[in-house]
Amino acid sequence: MVESLPPVIAIDGPSASGKGTVAQKVAEALGFHYLDSGSLYRLVGLVARNSGISLDDEVRLAGVAGNLAVAFSGDKILIEKQDVTEGIRTEESGRAASAVAVHPQVRTALLDRQRAFRQLPGLVADGRDMGSVVFPDARLKVFLTATVEERAMRRYKQLKQKGIVATLDPLLQDLRERDARDESRSAAPLRQGSDARLLDTTAMSIADAVERVLTWYRAETGDARH
Ligand code: DC
Repeated sequence: MVESLPPVIAIDGPSASGKGTVAQKVAEALGFHYLDSGSLYRLVGLVARNSGISLDDEVRLAGVAGNLAVAFSGDKILIEKQDVTEGIRTEESGRAASAVAVHPQVRTALLDRQRAFRQLPGLVADGRDMGSVVFPDARLKVFLTATVEERAMRRYKQLKQKGIVATLDPLLQDLRERDARDESRSAAPLRQGSDARLLDTTAMSIADAVERVLTWYRAETGDARH
């Protein structure tokens, strides 16, 4: 008998769509593990910047990706014992992540690390290529999005809550640029796969989005427990 791998729910979508929050809550509801794959690209960008490595230097960046001394400890992300949880969340880190993510060798170097999160009883993974490349056999694939204006507004409110002064226009511009780069790169571009379900959260609460994903998952697995 072929041993089956733990189930995966893949949630892909553009920046600031809320996919991270939804994915985390779905994982909590099911008692599954959670992978925020964007954090790995953000970490590569951060280490590269701290080591003076150019964001165009594919070979050295792939070396960084393959040797990331990262530890996920509860809600904290540590690099060589240094807490970088907040440091990788800045807009600058997001831009650096998007730049390192265009390199195929970087993406390949991160594959095994991402797949190692697939453990019992299951995994919810969010990113850009979870359903298309990293977990093509995911039980459920969701493409979670919202209009760019709504996403910029969400990011704006998030920053304000943290006491960070921001203006809407540059955030909007930045998201448009990141979308364009993530969608147009040749390696694993951001797009809705033909086997992924579209979840447009523009006018939807987080709780409703979570419920929708759980309903789809139950229907997929025939599991009425959750
Ligand atoms: O999800 P995020 O905003 O933290 O991701 C930051 C960048 O990392 C994003 O602009 C593109 C890249 N990324 C990727 O290419 N593939 C993934 N699976 C996750 C993120």
